[in-house]
Amino acid sequence: VLIGDPMYATYEGLIAQSGARMVPVPLRPEHGFRMQAADVEARITPRSRVLFLNTPHNPTGAVLRAEDIRALAEVARAHDLWILSDEVYEEMTFPGVTFTSPLDFADFADRVVVASSISKSHAAPGFRSGWCVGPAEFCERLLPLSETMLFGSQPFISDMTALAVSEPSPVAPGMAERFARRARLIADTLGGTSGLGVHRPEAGMFALVDVRATGLSGLDFATSLLDRHKVAVMPGESFGAGLSGWVRLSLTQPDDRTTLAANRIAAHAARTLGNAA
Ligand SMILES: Cc1ncc(COP(=O)(O)O)c(C=O)c1O
Repeated sequence: VLIGDPMYATYEGLIAQSGARMVPVPLRPEHGFRMQAADVEARITPRSRVLFLNTPHNPTGAVLRAEDIRALAEVARAHDLWILSDEVYEEMTFPGVTFTSPLDFADFADRVVVASSISKSHAAPGFRSGWCVGPAEFCERLLPLSETMLFGSQPFISDMTALAVSEPSPVAPGMAERFARRARLIADTLGGTSGLGVHRPEAGMFALVDVRATGLSGLDFATSLLDRHKVAVMPGESFGAGLSGWVRLSLTQPDDRTTLAANRIAAHAARTLGNAA
C-alpha cells in the first residue's frame, strides 16, 4: 500500500492488520505537501496493489488539485492499482479552495474506493458512523466483512447518517470558515518574527508549524512548550518520519485562546533560539 508520509497515525496499524505492507511516499513542503505522481511511480514494485490518498489531508491540510489526482490516477491505472481515498475532511475545505475527488473522473471510477464519515463534517465522532463508495463488485465483498466488524452499530445511527449525508452539512461551512481564520491568526502571529515557519492549511482542523530553526525535535519542542507555557501541540514525528522538527496545532479553540497559544509558542521559540545563540 503506497501512502503519503506524513499521515494520519492510525493508518499504519490498519494496513498492518490486513497483512499488507505500508510503503511511505514522501509529501514535501515545497510541493505544498501534495503527493506527486513521480514520487509514487519511483516506489512501485510488482507487489504494489493500492494507492492510498487522503484529501483534504491530516495533518498537513493539503488539498489535492484536479491535475494532481489525474496524474496519480494515471500512475494507478498504468500499474493496475486500486485508489483508496479518505475524504473525511471534504466538507471542511476552506473558502476559496476547490475540493476534487478521484471519483470525479469517470474514466478512473472502476478502481476508486472512497471512505468518509460524519465525524468531521457533522462534528459527530462519537457516533462512529461513516460510509464507503466503490465499484459494485468491491462493495459486494466489503459488505459481509463490514457486517462482522460493525454489527454493534445501532440502526438509528445508520438512519441518522443516511439523512445527514443526503444534504450539505449545516455546520461544516461555519467550522471551515473559523478554522481558516484561526490558521491566518497563527500565521500572522508566528510568521516572520518568531523564526518559525507556518504551513498554511487549505482545509481541516490543523496547522503545521516548522520548529527546526530552534534546533529541537517536534517532540522536544512540544514537551517543553507544555511544561513551560501550558500549550499542548502534537509532535510532527507522531505522523511519520517526514515531519520531524514540526508540530501540529489544533484550530478548534476559540480565536482569543488561539492567539494566546500562538503568542506563547512565539515566546517559547524566542527563548529557545536565545538559548541556542
Ligand atoms: C484523515 C482521517 N481519516 C479518518 C479519521 C477518522 O475518522 P472517524 O472518526 O470517522 O473514524 C480521522 C480522524 O481524525 C482523520 O484525521
